[in-house]
Order: sequence, then structure tokens, then C-alpha cells
Amino acid sequence: MQDKSFLMIPGPTPVPESVLVELARHPIGHRSKEFSDIFMSCIEGLKWLGKTKNSDAFIYTASGTGAMEAAIANVLSPGDKVLSLVIGVFGKRFGQIAQTFGAQVEMLTVDPGKVIDLKVLEQKLHEDKNKEIKVVTVTHSETATGAANDLEKIARIVKNHGSLLLVDAVTSLGCMNVEIDKWELDVVISGSQKGFMIPPGLSFIYVSPKAWEYNKKSKCPKFYWDFEKHKKSLDEQTTPFTPNVSFVCALKKSFEMMQKEGLENIIQRHDRLKTRLRAGLKELGLKLLTEDKDASAAITAIYPPDGASISDIRSAYKKDWDITIANGQDTLKDKIFRIGHLGFISDRDIEMTLVVTEKVFEKLKS
Ligand SMILES: Cc1ncc(COP(=O)(O)O)c(C=O)c1O
Repeated sequence: MQDKSFLMIPGPTPVPESVLVELARHPIGHRSKEFSDIFMSCIEGLKWLGKTKNSDAFIYTASGTGAMEAAIANVLSPGDKVLSLVIGVFGKRFGQIAQTFGAQVEMLTVDPGKVIDLKVLEQKLHEDKNKEIKVVTVTHSETATGAANDLEKIARIVKNHGSLLLVDAVTSLGCMNVEIDKWELDVVISGSQKGFMIPPGLSFIYVSPKAWEYNKKSKCPKFYWDFEKHKKSLDEQTTPFTPNVSFVCALKKSFEMMQKEGLENIIQRHDRLKTRLRAGLKELGLKLLTEDKDASAAITAIYPPDGASISDIRSAYKKDWDITIANGQDTLKDKIFRIGHLGFISDRDIEMTLVVTEKVFEKLKS
């Protein structure tokens, strides 16, 4: 049946109908008072979501990787030492972007499905006697594996050392608790196609007062991403370049929905969906990549049962049930499949996915 397909991938996620309606409207002028008001309410929405009063928040018309590049380009200078905490594809990408901008990057890498060992991190920073590590990058929820770092504890260790902390919260913001002020996160980035419930195309970045100090000394080239340009425009309630007007209007609608649900309820819902999905998958005899204690509330990575190929599994979900699930990435490609449960996902969607999963594997066995 047409128009009944469903995304259970870790982004893009399904989009609520009221948000889709916003996307269908004629664009309005981006220098109008009407747009300014909508834009500023989204900035307030971002601050609410990240629990921050101290950090500035900007919206870029770009995907999440654009905001990662913005984070690097705005605080680093070529030659700076960076420690990248890598628990999967996206953690590695943060380090690679820093390398591209001329930083000396060391990657602290763990096995797929694992998270950063806090003792190892403490030791690594302890060895940095001359405090040469200027910046640490970390992924909160690693989309490639479904593992989530203990961001609060990592932040405390990094802060004690005195380095700047850049956080990829692409699949955690709007799903998991992220406390920018309390945990002293310096630069936090995210993207629209995840917990924000709108399609891909916008990214978000938070900049702490300490990150601004780094920005003043940063010598990496930047133009489109330049924090200063965005700050100057934000002070005038506008953007330096033409923003994706329709998406910003959709974001306002999405924030209205999120605020109606309440931040703590959103976090609890994601936690409940994760717990139910993991328990249901285990009851079906499936093995999960991450341990419960390290599991992201946004994505679950699953090993195929013996003899079943990832491509057969994905096509059974798609062909018979019109549900899209994701393959693994990089070294995990064709080794695991991933189910996204972030954003506009309800308890009913999880129950449906579990029933379908049972039927998919019954069929593949026969
Ligand atoms: C954790 C994480 N970081 C960064 C990105 C990159 O975002 P984008 O694909 O929007 O550039 C993604 C995308 O899935 C992600 O999941």
C-alpha cells in the first residue's frame, strides 16, 4: 500500500503531520519581522532543550557534519593537540575533521559497541603533564553502534584537566539528558533529522563562554561557519546568510510539540522505548551489540541470527512490511542491523516493530 512506509532508522526519522504541514507552506521573507520572531523562538527552544542559559545557540542550514566542521574551525588553530574519543564512525569523523584543519589528533578508540573507559581517559589526560591537549572531542550517542558514552562523567574528567570539550549530540539531544551548563559542555552540536522530528537540513551548535575565548585565538579558516558572524546576526535577531526558512518554521512547530510533551517526559519516553525494544529483541533470541548499561536511548544495533544475511533481513522488513531499518556502517556493514527509536516514535511503533521482527525471522527460518 502506498504512503504507509515507515522509517525505523536512526535518522531521518518520521516527521509529525503538523510539522509536514508547516513545510508545505509558501516561504516567508527571511528578513521579515515574522520570520525573526519564529527564528528567535527556535533559539529559545534550543536553549530549553540543552538546558542552557550561558551558551549561545546558532542554527546552520547544513547537515550535522557541517556543525562538526564549524565546531572545529571556530576553536582550533593548525598544530593544536586534540584528543578524539572514538567509539564508532562519527567519533572518528570528528577527529578526521580536526586533522583536515591541521590539528595533531590522537584518537582513543574502543571496540565496536563499547564506550570510553573513564579510567583510561583519566590516565591519558594525566600523562599530558604540560597540558598540551587543547581540545577533546566526544560523541554522546554513537549512531553507528548504539552505544552511549557517560557524557557527564567524561565532561568532569576533561574539565578537571582544563581542555575544551566538543560534543557530538546528534543522536542524543532531544532523546537523552544533555545538560550544557551543569556539565560545562563547551561546544555541542546536533542535527534536525533526529530527535528534532524534522527532515535533514538544519544543524545546531551551542557555544559556551569558554569556547568563545578559544574562538578569539583560533586561526583556522572559516567563513560560512564563523561563530562571530552568526553571533553578530543573532544579536540583530537574524542570520548572516539565507536560512532554510521552511525548516525553521517546521522547527518552531516541532518545539511546540516537544514543549507540550515536556523535556523530562521526552527523555523518559526514549528510555522506555529503548528498554522495551531491547527486552523484546532478547526475548526473540536476538543478540545485541551493546550491553544494557552502555545502550543509547536512540538506536539499537542487533546481530543477525546464524545463517541470516543483513540484506535478506532488511528486504523482508521492507518488502513485506514497508519498514526501513538500517545496515551497519564501515566495519560493521553487513554484520549488524540497526533500529532507530528516536524522535517521533511511540510505544505503539516499538510494539509493531517487535511483532514484525518476529514475523521476519519466522519467515527467514522457513
Ligand atoms: C552521531 C552523529 N554524528 C554526526 C552525524 C553526521 O550528521 P549528518 O549526516 O547530518 O551530516 C550523524 C549522522 O547520522 C550522527 O548520527
